[in-house]
Amino acid sequence: MKNICVVGVGYVGLVTGTCFADLGNRVTALDINEERIENLKRGVLPIYEPGLEEMVKRNVSSGRLSFTTSYAEALRDAEFAFIAVGTPEGVDGEADLQYVRAAAEAIAEAMAAPLIIVNKSTVPVGTGDWVAEIVRAKQPAPMPFSVVSCPEFLREGSAIADFMNPARTILGSLDHDAANRVADLHLPLRAPILVVDLRTAEMIKYASNAFLATKISFINEIANVCEALGADVKEVATGMGFDPRIGRQFLDAGLGYGGSCFPKDVKALAHMANVQGKHPQLLQAVMDINHDQRRLVVSKVRELLGDLDGKVIGLLGLAFKPNTDDMRDAPSIEIAQHLQTGGARVQGYDPVAMTAAGRHMPRVRLCEDAYEAANGADALVICTEWNEFKQLDFERLKGTMRDTAIIDGRNLYDPAQMHRLGFRYRGMGRGYNGNGYSQP
Ligand code: UDX
Ligand code: UDX
Repeated sequence: MKNICVVGVGYVGLVTGTCFADLGNRVTALDINEERIENLKRGVLPIYEPGLEEMVKRNVSSGRLSFTTSYAEALRDAEFAFIAVGTPEGVDGEADLQYVRAAAEAIAEAMAAPLIIVNKSTVPVGTGDWVAEIVRAKQPAPMPFSVVSCPEFLREGSAIADFMNPARTILGSLDHDAANRVADLHLPLRAPILVVDLRTAEMIKYASNAFLATKISFINEIANVCEALGADVKEVATGMGFDPRIGRQFLDAGLGYGGSCFPKDVKALAHMANVQGKHPQLLQAVMDINHDQRRLVVSKVRELLGDLDGKVIGLLGLAFKPNTDDMRDAPSIEIAQHLQTGGARVQGYDPVAMTAAGRHMPRVRLCEDAYEAANGADALVICTEWNEFKQLDFERLKGTMRDTAIIDGRNLYDPAQMHRLGFRYRGMGRGYNGNGYSQP
């Protein structure tokens, strides 16, 4: 059992702290947002993540997990301090490290014993060294510490499973004793542990996210060619995925990637490359393709409806992906803006992200369910592939709509079936599907 402090109770910090507590450690989670901490003390979570609420409550009641806004309290017996504050996109795509600096300075001032500081947040290559300089400069008196990079590989919506069953644990540090002590925390996860230097660990995180984003933009480019040639990109992805060198995952064509990671991490890596005079040609293309996908959806609406002025468009799904309430850089936001700019009225529904959606898309009329979002709509756009959209009552849907256009931004449906049901259907890269179906 170890004493762990986690700074930042967002999507990453709250999952990290709660899971470490669930493994038997004593965790004090700190945040500067007092309301967030007070709510957590009452069992009210700031985020939606399947299974997290029950896990937080169970570990709080067992005394393994507690919450505070006081660094002195959080660090009192801590051997480890995980920094999991946000690293949002800054100017020119560079990661904004102001919160990491604030956390490092506060830790330096409050630490009362030797400490291992662990960077959990996604930070640019070289940040570990920078954090060490900050701590050394800020300490009231020299106190031994080490900095270890331990990047997170959590997907929102499956973050607990991803924490408890990681493909690997990456640790970066020049202090092997510190790295080994952080490695010991992860032994119960029974996954490969790779110990490298700080900069290499930081780069592994960016390179991993950038590669996954590249797979997505690759399949979206293939989807656009499939559409022109009458091939079905879903089957193409299936055929490709049998090759273990390629793998089927992250080959789902659609609106492209959003969220708080891929968009900002690809930009941050491109910025790092540019600063070093290494033009990131591939990363730039990945970003360009991703950005165009959102516009492509709007052009499909125009293709089916003609002029958007006065039209009503229903969006099914608003969060950047299913099983989360996270609206950060969700494609639905930009799609709604483009539609509204064209004069359309936009209404939408999401099973979980309605509160967040209200903040991110104030001009979109929020509906109670998919059928209300379809009511009076000339077109429906599938933005997020929630399970509850997979088996909708399509006759009922058609009966409430004013027109019959469906733009399936996440390729949820079978084109031939939608055609038979009387919808004018557009998928993303859905050409012939073996039943002789071709888009009218
Ligand atoms: C995480 C990772 O930290 C980031 O690197 C990754 O790229 C995205 O996921 P996330 O958990 O999503 O960020 O951040 P967020 O949900 O914004 O939560 C950050 C928390 O840190 C907030 O609760 C905020 O109040 C808190 N915070 C911020 C502090 O406690 N101290 C600060 O100085 C700044
Ligand atoms: C991602 C990484 O997967 C995770 O390892 C890292 O730690 C944080 O960033 P996350 O952003 O939570 O996780 O979700 P993910 O499931 O990776 O999806 C990211 C985006 O890509 C979503 O917008 C999703 O809709 C999109 N996506 C994903 C596709 O468009 N096609 C795919 O095949 C897969």
